Order: sequence, then C-alpha cells, then structure tokens
Amino acid sequence: MDSIPANRRLWNRISGAYQREHDPRIGAAPRLWGMYSVPDAELRALGDVRGKRVLELGCGAGQWSRALVAEGASVVGVDLSEAQLAAAVGAMGEGRCPLVQGAAERLPFADESFDLVFCDFGGLSWAPPQLAVPQAARVLRRGGRLVFNVASPWFEACYDEDAGRVTTTLQKDYFGLDAIAEGDGATSYQLTYGDWVRVLRGAGLVIDDLIEPRPGPGTPNGYNETDPPDWAHRWPAELLWVTHKP
Ligand SMILES: C[S@@+](CC[C@H](N)C(=O)[O-])C[C@H]1O[C@@H](n2cnc3c(N)ncnc32)[C@H](O)[C@@H]1O
Repeated sequence: MDSIPANRRLWNRISGAYQREHDPRIGAAPRLWGMYSVPDAELRALGDVRGKRVLELGCGAGQWSRALVAEGASVVGVDLSEAQLAAAVGAMGEGRCPLVQGAAERLPFADESFDLVFCDFGGLSWAPPQLAVPQAARVLRRGGRLVFNVASPWFEACYDEDAGRVTTTLQKDYFGLDAIAEGDGATSYQLTYGDWVRVLRGAGLVIDDLIEPRPGPGTPNGYNETDPPDWAHRWPAELLWVTHKP
C-alpha cells in the first residue's frame, strides 16, 4: 500500500496547527522522547553523537535535529512534508542542517552513509515498517545504530476512537493493528511485538534494548487524552527500540 501521497497531504495540511500546539513543548529542551517528553538523559537511548553522521527520519520541524547539531553531530533531516520542512527551516535559521524531502520507504541516500538513524514518532510510525526498517538498515554503516520511538500496541489497542481517548478497555484486536486510518487516506503503522522483532532481525539488525518509557504519575501526555490520566505510568504507552547493524 502506498500511503506516501496521502500522508504528505495530511502533514502539509496540519503542519501549522501541529507546530503551534506542540513546538513550544518539544522545542523547549533538547532530546525529549515521545508523547510525555521524557528526557533522553533519563532513558539513555541515543548515546554520544559528537562527530557522528546522523539521519533523523521524519524530522518535522527538526527539534531533535537542531539539538544534536548543537552537540557536534553532522545531521541530515528527511521528511515527507514540505510544510514540515519549511517549519524546520524557519526554526533553524541560517545555521540549519541539511533538510531533504523524501520518504522513509525509499530513502534518497547511499548505502552505509550514517552512523545513527533515529526518529521519535517519525518515519517508522508513518511508513510501513516492513519497507522503512530495511531502508534505515541499508543507509547505516556497520556498527551504526537505529533508535526509534513508536506507540505501543497496548496504547493502540486501548484507544477508543469514538471517545477520542485511551482507556483501560481493549477496543481493537491486537493482531491486525497494522495500518491505522488517520483520515483522508492517511495511514500510520503499528506492529505486534513479534512482528517488530521479525522486521528488525529480518533487516539484519541486532536488538540491543526495548525501552518502555514510564512517565511519572503527573506527567501530561502532550498529544492524547487518557483515562485514567496516569495511564502511561501504569501501562507502556511507547516502545523505544535500540538496535545496531553488526
Ligand atoms: C509526529 S511528527 C515527528 C517529528 C517530530 N519528532 C515531532 O514529534 O514533531 C511525524 C513526521 O513524520 C513525517 N512523515 C510522515 N510520513 C513520512 C514518511 N513516509 N517518510 C518520512 N517522513 C514522514 C511527517 O511529515 C511529520 O513531520
């Protein structure tokens, strides 16, 4: 299934409102992971990036990319949406890193050109992982790492579409979550735990860790309502995969 055109249209349409709502939080401090803005200093997923060639896969307005540039990494941001890339240009100003329009499904980069490929609810949430993971593995050099954060199957299976919130009741089948309709043909993607393992290993990657970020009880979710409010303190809302190419 080719979701590239519809996902590009969606992100072009919502980019302005998305950045107005979320940039003040996700751009406020460096290295914040996911819906609860959990600091990487706590999760220790990304490691030292100084001197590394880094690709952010679905960089949006580049909040992560510009933080890693400031740490001394050589970063390229790729994103499907020209509106999101325009937001990145506006936010980064003159000292911006290279920004490339492209899809995680068909990365416009040579084999083995990066030391680290990563994203936070980016290309690995919005492209079929069966296509995007092998692409990420292809552009990594040997020893390079793929690190990414996506919603957990728990979170997706407990999401009540009608109520617009995450609940404590299973709303959807776990098997077959797969492609999630986001309106007007746009699609996000989800895999079972077993399928993530198979897709990562099938692309030749070694799984080093699966971090399940656990925000403190009062930590707000910047994107979704949950019932109870401390849902993610009790169940894993996100999967932060840490892998490398041997
Ligand atoms: C939730 S944002 C993630 C960016 C940033 N981490 C943030 O939290 O705002 C998702 C980004 O993925 C981009 N995107 C959607 N589909 C994509 C694809 N197939 N390939 C690359 N980027 C894609 C969107 O344009 C959007 O900028």
